[in-house]
Amino acid sequence: MKLYAAPLQGFTEATWRNIHSEIFGGIDSYVTPFIRIEKGEIRSKDVRDIEKKNNSVDHLVPQLIAATPEEFIPLVEFIVAQGYSEVDINMGCSFALQVRKCHGAGLLPHPDKVEALMKAAEKFPEVSFSVKMRLGWESKEEWRALLPILNDSTLSRITLHPRTGREQYRVAADCEEFARFYEECRHPLVYNGDLTSLEDMNRIAERFPRLEGLMMGRGLLANPAIALEYKQQRVFSHGEKASLIARFHEKFYDIMSARLQGNTQFLSKFKPYWEYLLPDMEKRDRKAIQKASTIEKYLAAVNGALARY
Ligand SMILES: Cc1cc2nc3c(=O)[nH]c(=O)nc-3n(C[C@H](O)[C@H](O)[C@H](O)COP(=O)(O)O)c2cc1C
Repeated sequence: MKLYAAPLQGFTEATWRNIHSEIFGGIDSYVTPFIRIEKGEIRSKDVRDIEKKNNSVDHLVPQLIAATPEEFIPLVEFIVAQGYSEVDINMGCSFALQVRKCHGAGLLPHPDKVEALMKAAEKFPEVSFSVKMRLGWESKEEWRALLPILNDSTLSRITLHPRTGREQYRVAADCEEFARFYEECRHPLVYNGDLTSLEDMNRIAERFPRLEGLMMGRGLLANPAIALEYKQQRVFSHGEKASLIARFHEKFYDIMSARLQGNTQFLSKFKPYWEYLLPDMEKRDRKAIQKASTIEKYLAAVNGALARY
C-alpha cells in the first residue's frame, strides 16, 4: 500500500513537506496544494511552492485546478517546464470561490467539461495524469456519469474522497459508496478521507485489498507520525510523538521566522496547525497556544504543551 500526503492549502506547502519527510517520513508521495490561473497568471506563491530548488521530498506530484482546456494547458505546460512528468487534477475542492468557477468539485456535475479536460490531457503524452475527486458535488451518484469517461482516459491513478462537495466534512466518509466505485474503477485507486489512526488505515487496507494506496490529510496534520506508524505497524507513544514534533517545530520555526514579519504574521501562520495537531492533548494547553499574543508567549505555550503531552 503506497502512502500519499494529501494537499492541504495553507498547511502542506514546500517547507512543511520538506521538514515532514526529513523528521517523520513514511510518506511515499506528496501532492502539492492546487495551483491555478488567477487574473491571467500563476500566482508567484504557487510557482515557488513547486520549483524544484524549494523541494527536497523524494516524490512530489504538483496539483492543478482548472475548468477548461484554456486554463488547463498553460498550467500543465508550466508544471512540465519545472521538470515534472506527473500532474494531479483537482476535482474535489469544495471552496465556494472555486466551485462557482466550475473548478474542483464544481466540475463533477459536468461530464462534458471533464471530457474536454481529458482530451486536453492527450496533448501531453509524456505526462502521467491522475485525478483527485469527491463522489459528486450535489449528489453521491454524480461519479456514475464521470467514471466511464475517466476509465476511458489514460490516468495513472484516481484518488477518491467519498463525500459530496456540498457535504464538505459534515457527514462521515461514505465507505459503501466508495465500495461501489472501487468495483467499477479500472485505474489504480487511492482511498482518502478520515484516516486518523493506524487502526483506520489497516481497516481500509483490509477491506479494499486492490487499492494502490491510502492518502491522509487532516490525520497527518493531527499525527504527523501516522504514515510511519503504518509502515512500522506500531502506535508511537506520546513521548515519541512529542519529541519528533518538537524537532519538527524547531526547524519549521527557524525557516519561517526568517520569512514572516511581526507577531501577527507569525501567529496566523503557526496557530492553525494547532487546531489539528495532537487532538488528545490537554484542552488548557491548546487554549494557551491559541490565546498567545506574542511569539514569545506562543513558544512558551508550545514548549509547555509538548512537555506535558
Ligand atoms: C484546509 C484544507 C485545504 C485543502 N486543500 C486541498 C487542495 O489544495 N487540493 C485538494 O485536492 N484537496 C484539498 N483539501 C482536501 C484534502 O486533500 C482531503 O481530500 C480531505 O481533507 C479529506 O481527507 P482527510 O480526511 O484525510 O483530511 C483540503 C482540505 C482542507 C481541510
